[in-house]
Amino acid sequence: MYHSTLLFLFLAPLTPLAEARPAACAAKGAKATNGKAVYLITNDQANAVVALPIGQDGLLKGAATSTPTGGAGANGIDGSTNQTAAPDALFSQSSLTIAGMNLFAVNAGSNTLSMFTINPLDPTDLTMVGQPIDIPGEFPTTVAASMKSKLACVGSTGAIAGVSCAPFSTQGLGAMDGLRVFNLGQTTPPVGPTNTVSQVFFSDDGSTLFSTVKGDPTKNNTGFLAAFPVEASSSPSAGAAAAVVSQQGTMTSPAGTAVLFGASTIPASNDLFVTDASFGGAVLSLDNKDVATVKGKGIVDGQKATCWVAISPATNTAFVTDVGTNRLVEMSLADATIQSQTDLSANGDPGLIDLRAAGNFIYALSPGNGTTQAAVTVVDALSKKQVQHLQLQGSAVDKNAQGMALLE
Ligand SMILES: *[C@@H]1O[C@H](CO)[C@@H](O)[C@H](O)[C@H]1NC(C)=O
Ligand SMILES: *[C@@H]1O[C@H](CO)[C@@H](O)[C@H](O)[C@H]1NC(C)=O
Ligand SMILES: *[C@@H]1O[C@H](CO)[C@@H](O)[C@H](O)[C@H]1NC(C)=O
Repeated sequence: MYHSTLLFLFLAPLTPLAEARPAACAAKGAKATNGKAVYLITNDQANAVVALPIGQDGLLKGAATSTPTGGAGANGIDGSTNQTAAPDALFSQSSLTIAGMNLFAVNAGSNTLSMFTINPLDPTDLTMVGQPIDIPGEFPTTVAASMKSKLACVGSTGAIAGVSCAPFSTQGLGAMDGLRVFNLGQTTPPVGPTNTVSQVFFSDDGSTLFSTVKGDPTKNNTGFLAAFPVEASSSPSAGAAAAVVSQQGTMTSPAGTAVLFGASTIPASNDLFVTDASFGGAVLSLDNKDVATVKGKGIVDGQKATCWVAISPATNTAFVTDVGTNRLVEMSLADATIQSQTDLSANGDPGLIDLRAAGNFIYALSPGNGTTQAAVTVVDALSKKQVQHLQLQGSAVDKNAQGMALLE
């Protein structure tokens, strides 16, 4: 049952850009090493994790695999049309995540979380550990995991919304703890993208679990950032985790933000980079009580929904994507001012959702829209040029797909 189905991806013909890649882009002193693979979920009825290997040159190459999660995907309802939402079926960033050599993926349609181990000799070889575990919320859309606390935490955004955590070990996931409830007044499936949980993620030191939650400006409903301290467990015993996430959190609605979406910690700081679907991106500062204030705001002209972010180690800047505009916008980690804009419209995709960065490269997912095929666009973060556009032909990846995780 842990069988992986081989899929064959057809590499797009080499473009002139791909030929320009070698020496020119091997920047001197580049500290960042290339990733080994990127992962996404199909989020289809029979949900699966698709792994795409990264070659030594940073480009996607070789055979992809698809490994069933043992759970079901689902789609939210697009509030602007009352139709099934896709692309961006889950209104979230980080529907799957990696901690160590463990991978965790949400099943929004079956209210479960699946855990896998990654074969160190072949990052596309995933083995499910145990069985998917039940989540005390409905419509889980985002997951965070920490090797420090050995906890995996899930954000749910249906009629029962909030954050819950479970310990993990080599034996798999333990039981989820009680839900830290968010009173969103949502339905299952939720009507979004506004008024939903966006992302859960840990601080770099593992001491805080954050969740971004979108408000709904049309309903005077304010979004917020929740921060929950990770504490030593009062009852460490065999099988119980040594750490727990506090049930009590700090919620702040930083002035000037409304629809907080994807986020990333900013290395070597107490700041966060967040996207806001209503205007672009922002840098948030956290005080010692985890109260967030806006340090800088970048308004992206002509944006439709700026929702996902990855920080490139090569440029030390944030790259954000928009589901309705096929471009990458690069922003400062100091104040979110716009550094560059890379128009990718020539590749024919309607827009981009989840993305990850490693080495000199950015990997961004376009699930397509049912007419256009799902694809991953690879952009050189230094030259800001597309170096690969890999259409996921012949695979089960379609407009329901969500992502994205990367193995360093
Ligand atoms: C969607 O459904 C709700 C509830 O039935 C309704 O109030 C709203 O007008 C609908 N919106 C659209 C765009 O059809
Ligand atoms: C929105 O909420 C704020 C704070 O609760 C309140 O002061 C304001 O009057 C509300 N506006 C509308 C249009 O309901
Ligand atoms: C899908 O995206 C392409 C490229 O932007 C666009 O031409 C097409 O109309 C879109 N199809 C649907 C169903 O939205």
